[in-house]
Amino acid sequence: MYSLLHHNTFGIDAQCRDFFEYTTVSQLLERLPQLRQTQWLHIGSGSNLVFVHDFEGTIVHSAIRGIEVQRQTDRHVWLKVGAGQVWDDLVAECVARGYCGLENLSLIPGEVGAAAVQNIGAYGVEVCQFIDTVEAVQVSTGELCELRGSECRYGYRSSLFKKEQAGQFIVTHVVFKLPLCFQPDLHYGAIARELQQRNITPGEVTPAVLRNLVVEVRRAKLPDPAEMGSAGSFFMNPVVSIDVFRHLQQQYPDMPHYEVENGVKIPAGWLIEQCGWKGRNLGPAGVYEKQALVLVNLGGATGADILRLARQVQADVKQRFGILISPEANIIC
Ligand code: EPU
Repeated sequence: MYSLLHHNTFGIDAQCRDFFEYTTVSQLLERLPQLRQTQWLHIGSGSNLVFVHDFEGTIVHSAIRGIEVQRQTDRHVWLKVGAGQVWDDLVAECVARGYCGLENLSLIPGEVGAAAVQNIGAYGVEVCQFIDTVEAVQVSTGELCELRGSECRYGYRSSLFKKEQAGQFIVTHVVFKLPLCFQPDLHYGAIARELQQRNITPGEVTPAVLRNLVVEVRRAKLPDPAEMGSAGSFFMNPVVSIDVFRHLQQQYPDMPHYEVENGVKIPAGWLIEQCGWKGRNLGPAGVYEKQALVLVNLGGATGADILRLARQVQADVKQRFGILISPEANIIC
């Protein structure tokens, strides 16, 4: 058995039967027939995972790294990046080289392949806005495929790799199309507020300024995985119909909300805080004191401890607001 303690940011000491890491596509293709015979799970850096039990199969991890310019025009650069590249190193590199767009996604834990599978997002930006192509291996055939970003069914923290075709593709590389001209997205509340407080006008914002600001905002609100185990936001923000929202708003006039395509999005952190969970715990599993959407490992928590807390929080939110909040973290039972 192999310990997964250092392969999940919750710091859960689960074990797996076998751990397979590859640095090239050929190594992956060579191992594929054997993988097809067993239970397997592909992970990134485990920043969105909860292992509830030991995993009785093979954990697979890509160590394909590298950032390569595929082509460049006056306005854009196409960057081909290995799935095992650390996400924030890519963002830092892009800021240094003058490739724009990813600044708001600074400091998100994890790796490039998982970023494309989950459609990571923060401060009004989602990674799918910059994904040109995803290169992947089709597990059943071993075929190398290229999926256009528009074919990946991207939605809020979702894609076909996570939903309808889960387990059918292994992402090897992601090609990003990034603008060379900086057009920052500064509309998100926390970013706009910080800029105002520091007397920085939109014209003064450079990619490096924006990256540093996002890093500071995140550090102030979210736990550092090196210090306290967590998987970032544990739940997704629920979307309710306009009718449901209006009804709730009568009772809770201060309820924060954002209109989205298919209804009204309500911050799950607010719902959880209203239920009195912020800063509380059930044994070694807690609700983070600065951001109620984040569940944390207070020391020695198992996946089962985290799940027990998550279920209790979910039940309380459902009972009080009639809204079911769904986990964003991938719970491996
Ligand atoms: N709020 C509370 N109490 C809390 C937390 C939030 O009342 O404890 C309310 C506040 O009204 C706040 C609003 O919720 O204004 C939104 O909070 P925040 O800006 O912190 O964002 P979020 O909706 O809680 C989402 C993402 C985060 C991302 C931030 C910033 C999801 C599931 N989470 O959180 O992503 O960093 O927006 O864009 O959409 C992650 O996915 O792991 C993650 C951290």
